[in-house]
This record gives sequence, structure tokens and C-alpha cells, in this order.
Amino acid sequence: MKIGFIGCGNMASAMIGGILRQGIFSKDEIIVSNLTEEGRARSEKTLGVVTTLDNNEIVRSAKTVVLAVKPQFYEEVLTEVHDSLTTEHTIIGIAPGKTLAWLEEKAGLPLKVVRFMPNTPAQVGAGMTAVCTNDRVSEDELAEILKITDSFGCTEVIPERLMDAAGAVGGCSPAYVFMFIEAMADAAVSQGMPRKQAYKFASQTVLGSAKMVLKTGRHPGDLKDMVCSPAGTTIEGVRTLEKSGFRSAVFEALTAAAEKGKKL
Ligand SMILES: NC(=O)c1ccc[n+]([C@@H]2O[C@H](COP(=O)([O-])OP(=O)(O)OC[C@H]3O[C@@H](n4cnc5c(N)ncnc54)[C@H](OP(=O)(O)O)[C@@H]3O)[C@@H](O)[C@H]2O)c1
Repeated sequence: MKIGFIGCGNMASAMIGGILRQGIFSKDEIIVSNLTEEGRARSEKTLGVVTTLDNNEIVRSAKTVVLAVKPQFYEEVLTEVHDSLTTEHTIIGIAPGKTLAWLEEKAGLPLKVVRFMPNTPAQVGAGMTAVCTNDRVSEDELAEILKITDSFGCTEVIPERLMDAAGAVGGCSPAYVFMFIEAMADAAVSQGMPRKQAYKFASQTVLGSAKMVLKTGRHPGDLKDMVCSPAGTTIEGVRTLEKSGFRSAVFEALTAAAEKGKKL
């Protein structure tokens, strides 16, 4: 096996989807574990990879192991697989708050440790993943790891001190964007637009606006100004958003998410 995933829910499935689509590893080179037989059967059916209910089998079969369980189960899982871990392993943590030093300490031996902070748009190959590593990971090994994260979207290698910021602006923010899309669509529906069409307008507009920021490299404020004709409709909406504390609400939401990440 080339890579193992302990836990195979939303995030692991999204990452494995990209890995398979880009041919980084084949189905028989990936092994995943689930907690329940129901989860194992789902992983087998939807991903077609090798599955097990035994976390130690993952560690015995693969030298690169992604911990894709919820943060509160990290310690339990690392204790469970402790005797199967060797210094040849690379452990990849994807949970907020579980630092490189914490992961190495709980693994109980000196090994290569990596942190990913991915997000669910990885499901459609449009993820944004932050990566940091400990000193035992060489440049060549990092290059191999980046092939994995690039398979489900974009990657930025960042210092570990920025992982909580990346968690907020990358990991959590799809939820806020979905809320924004839902709210825009609700408003269009209230103006008489059929709901399906409203979601299409709202989603494509978010996608197109994001592409403009990435492709033009222009300041988002500059791009906003382009839409606001003097005495027009858009600036009325901007005035209303400012009055409702839109920017401040977003600022506070991401700060709260980052601060929570530090405490996990
Ligand atoms: N979702 C996101 O947007 C996102 C973004 C960035 C980072 N993350 C991080 O990704 C990690 C996974 O999140 P998720 O959203 O994918 O969670 P999830 O959908 O709830 O999946 C968790 C998986 O862990 C399995 N599991 C639980 N306990 C286990 C154990 N003791 N041994 C083996 N497998 C076990 C579950 O098995 P069953 O299927 O049998 O229940 C399930 O497949 C978390 O640490 C989260 O913080 C998530």
C-alpha cells in the first residue's frame, strides 16, 4: 500500500477522490479504515479502495498514514496504533489544533510528521490545502506529498504558526460561502426567481468572482468598485451590507474559528 487513511468520512473521501482522478495512486494502493461496518461498506462501494475496520492494519500496510478522524479521537487512535508505528512512517494530521510536536509526542517515536489543512471543495478537485512539516521531512519527500494535495486542488506550504488562520480561511470558510450562496438565492426567490435557477445564479457568481480575483490579481476592493456605478443598484446593496456589519461579521467569524482551532 502507498497510503493509508485512518477514518474515511467526508474529508478523506474528498482527498481520495482527487488522488484517484489524478492517478497519483491506484485503488489497490490505498487502504482506509472506518469505525463501523456501515462506514467500511460505504468506503468500499463509493471509492473502491481496500478497506478494513482495523487501524493497526492501516499502519502495518502503509508507510504514509493520514489521520482522518475527528480531532477528539486523535489521541485514542494514536495510542491504539502505537506499537505498529516505526520511524519509517510519515504521519499526516488534518485536524485543527493537533500540532506537529503534539502528533510526534503522541506517536511516541521520532518520525516524519506533516499537517494538512484541506477543505471540502477537494471533492470537486477545487480544494485549498495548507501544508507544513517537521524537520524530518526532506525536500524530496515534501515534493511527493505536494503531488497528493495538488491532486485535489491548490496547495500552499506555510509555517505552522499560520495553520489556524488557514483552518479558518480555508478549512471552515466553505461553510460561510455556502451560507452566503443560500442567502443570495433566498433573496432571489423572494423576488420571484425559481429556486434552482437562484442557486445557479448565486453559485456561478461566487465562482466567477473568485476566478476574477485569482486571474486578474487585482485588489478585491478594486473589482468591487468596477461593479458599483454612481447612483446605481449595486452601491445601494453595498451601503446596506455595510450598515448590517457584513465585513465585521465575516472578520469575527473567521477570528472565532481560528481561536477555537488553537484550543482543540
Ligand atoms: N470536513 C471538513 O471540512 C474538514 C476540513 C479540514 C479538516 N477537517 C478534519 O478532517 C478530519 C475528518 O473530518 P470529516 O469531516 O471527514 O469527519 P467525518 O465525515 O465525521 O469522518 C470521520 C471518519 O472517522 C471514522 N472514525 C471515527 N472513529 C474512528 C476510529 N476510532 N477508527 C477509525 N475510524 C474512525 C468514521 O468512521 P464511520 O464512517 O464508520 O463512522 C468516519 O469515517 C477531522 O479531524 C476534521 O477536523 C475536516
